[in-house]
Amino acid sequence: MILYFSATGNTKYCAELLASRTNDKAVSLNGMMKNNLSVIDCAGEEALGIVAPTYDMDLAYAVAEFLERVELRNVSKDIYAYGVFTCGSVCGDCGETLKKILAAKDINLNAAFVVIMPDNYVPMFKQKSDKVKAAMLAKADETLNDITEDIKARKNIFKLTGRLPRFVMFFIRKFMMPSQRKVKSFSVNDSCVGCGTCARVCPMNIIEMKDNRPVWTKDNCACCLACLHRCPKQAINRGKSAKNGRYLNPNVKLEG
Ligand SMILES: Cc1cc2nc3c(=O)[nH]c(=O)nc-3n(C[C@H](O)[C@H](O)[C@H](O)COP(=O)(O)O)c2cc1C
Ligand code: SF4
Ligand code: SF4
Repeated sequence: MILYFSATGNTKYCAELLASRTNDKAVSLNGMMKNNLSVIDCAGEEALGIVAPTYDMDLAYAVAEFLERVELRNVSKDIYAYGVFTCGSVCGDCGETLKKILAAKDINLNAAFVVIMPDNYVPMFKQKSDKVKAAMLAKADETLNDITEDIKARKNIFKLTGRLPRFVMFFIRKFMMPSQRKVKSFSVNDSCVGCGTCARVCPMNIIEMKDNRPVWTKDNCACCLACLHRCPKQAINRGKSAKNGRYLNPNVKLEG
């Protein structure tokens, strides 16, 4: 079973490709999170893949928190567990974090891989040209070919980009992460047509429609940016996103 979380499609693309090539099934965590599911039955599974994006040099908040609280039931002692992390350039501590979370559930992480794909963090970074993004996606396919072979061969291997020095991670975790998750940084402009897509795609289920406008009902969120990128009117903004563009993986169909 391949469990994946995806806001703008990169990770979904990887999970579905790996599933089709390894004769496995890709299961989305987005819906499970939204519906507060608390158990995943792994009976009969020979492999457990966790495919997730990198946020702030670490495993995406939503994924780390969900995996910590979910019960993975009937996991075989011999299960081959692996992580695949998508990112714009570096995946930092994703491997270490996933290893710790699984170890707490008596599951050994056998392998971990990184796939570099277009970066969706538009509050800070400008979208690259379509040509550059297409080249990145083609390169990602090559990486996924190699990962497929390693998974099929049940390799015990960690192929990740370098971790940052501890003091940099300390700074990111102490100062960047808490502010990153504040929903007060979102704004909605007058292009909003009240379609409700943002509310439907929010995996935390914290956007409600009131008077045809989205309202965030909690102070903090998973910062996945699904609401921002999926809005058909580009009405939701944060940081410099209004001039940095939007991103959705062109090779995958997103739910919602
Ligand atoms: C809040 C946030 C933080 C991010 N931090 C990083 C990062 O530290 N390093 C990196 O290379 N990419 C980072 N990214 C980019 C994503 O990891 C990347 O675009 C990923 O493939 C998105 O996956 P998705 O399309 O499945 O949602 C970040 C994206 C978001 C939304
Ligand atoms: S997705 Fe955009 S247009 Fe639709 S309700 Fe949300 S903000 Fe408004
Ligand atoms: S509010 Fe937006 S960024 Fe936050 S979890 Fe929901 S969809 Fe993701």
